[in-house]
Amino acid sequence: MNNTIINDFLEKYNQKHLLQYEDKLSNDEREILYNQISNIDWSFLDSLSKKESNENSIIEPIGALSISDIKDNQASYKATGIKAIQDGKLCLLLLAGGQGTRLGHDKPKGCFNMGITKELSIFSLLMEHTLKVVKETGSWIHMYIMTSDINYQDTTSFFKEHDNFGYNPDYLHFFVQELNPATDFNGKILMNSSHTLALSPNGNGGWFSSMNKAGLLDEIFNGPVEWINVFAVDNVLQGIADPVFLGATIESGKMCGSKVVRKAFPEEKVGAICKENGKPHIIEYYELSEDMRYQTTEDGALAYGFGVTLNYLFPISRLKETLDSKMPLHVVKKAVPYINDKLEYIEPTEPNGLKFETLALDLIHEMDDCLVFEVDREKEFAPVKNKSGVDSIDTARELLKKNGYEL
Ligand code: UTP
Repeated sequence: MNNTIINDFLEKYNQKHLLQYEDKLSNDEREILYNQISNIDWSFLDSLSKKESNENSIIEPIGALSISDIKDNQASYKATGIKAIQDGKLCLLLLAGGQGTRLGHDKPKGCFNMGITKELSIFSLLMEHTLKVVKETGSWIHMYIMTSDINYQDTTSFFKEHDNFGYNPDYLHFFVQELNPATDFNGKILMNSSHTLALSPNGNGGWFSSMNKAGLLDEIFNGPVEWINVFAVDNVLQGIADPVFLGATIESGKMCGSKVVRKAFPEEKVGAICKENGKPHIIEYYELSEDMRYQTTEDGALAYGFGVTLNYLFPISRLKETLDSKMPLHVVKKAVPYINDKLEYIEPTEPNGLKFETLALDLIHEMDDCLVFEVDREKEFAPVKNKSGVDSIDTARELLKKNGYEL
């Protein structure tokens, strides 16, 4: 793209400030800036004017398979799951493209050391959980690892340095998700140097189209894989490739599965699974009305009391059908490092800008129904989101210790 076209674009989208330091740039820097500008998918700006509303939707509770229901059929579910894994019907997707701004670690979140007297990184824990199933089934399972441009190098180097944590490298596939510009509250794109835009990963919902762009889907579509277990990087206790979860989802005949935990208390800040207009849906804690928050079922449990853990099973066949539809972008307020008018680099601690993200919950909504699969939060839910307080390094370390880990 030449200078005139770039100028026209910036004029059209009211972003001329991106060229304010142009006179000071070297040729190489100018090229970097032009490249970044010409790679922007400007449709992201449409989401600023779209109102996120579900005013006309009917929200209802959804039934779940409780821990005791699962125990009653454990053997059958497990046998079904193990057979499916041995037949190559499962692959895994680790969502590791986030920036973990709340944790504030300068490396990928997966590299964070949960150990105190020894090294016990989040990645090593996740790989250890997966290797348990590999051993139990005697089958390697393909694992796709989504990073962003920002953390790809650090992530792949960390795996290499640790000899892939004992995982067969032929079964590990790293790929990169797309980036979107971040803006200030007025929709002006922020810059993080005189010649680079403040770009950030486009959320955790667009992974299937990113896998497609990375050319990874042919091998999946042409092979035996029927299910993909998608999970977040930050729950250090979660069961991955869990044969019982897989078997229960297959036996239920439902389109997808979601691992959930019972909310610790009604006000807990966790998205709850429910139905919207008959389809599975995740309602954020702040979207629940006062009545819904405390509503109970006949047995006295919270009607919207199953919090999602970001560990799902999706069917490849249905995902394939969703490839043509564009995932909606949500506008999220976050702390975005930027340069000010004096070219000083500022790292805010409070939200100062907007990021544009696809969300996993929109993919859930594409499914006809969902097996809501309860897990014991003491054994399977230790998210590392914050430096301290709720869902933090400290709370996750406590849970790891309770589960017999030496830190
Ligand atoms: P979070 O919503 O916790 O976001 O991601 P985050 O970026 O990791 O952390 P904060 O909000 O900045 O503190 C939940 C999961 O989705 C992945 C994360 O890596 C994590 O596993 N994710 C998030 C992506 O893979 N890509 C994204 O663009 C965002």
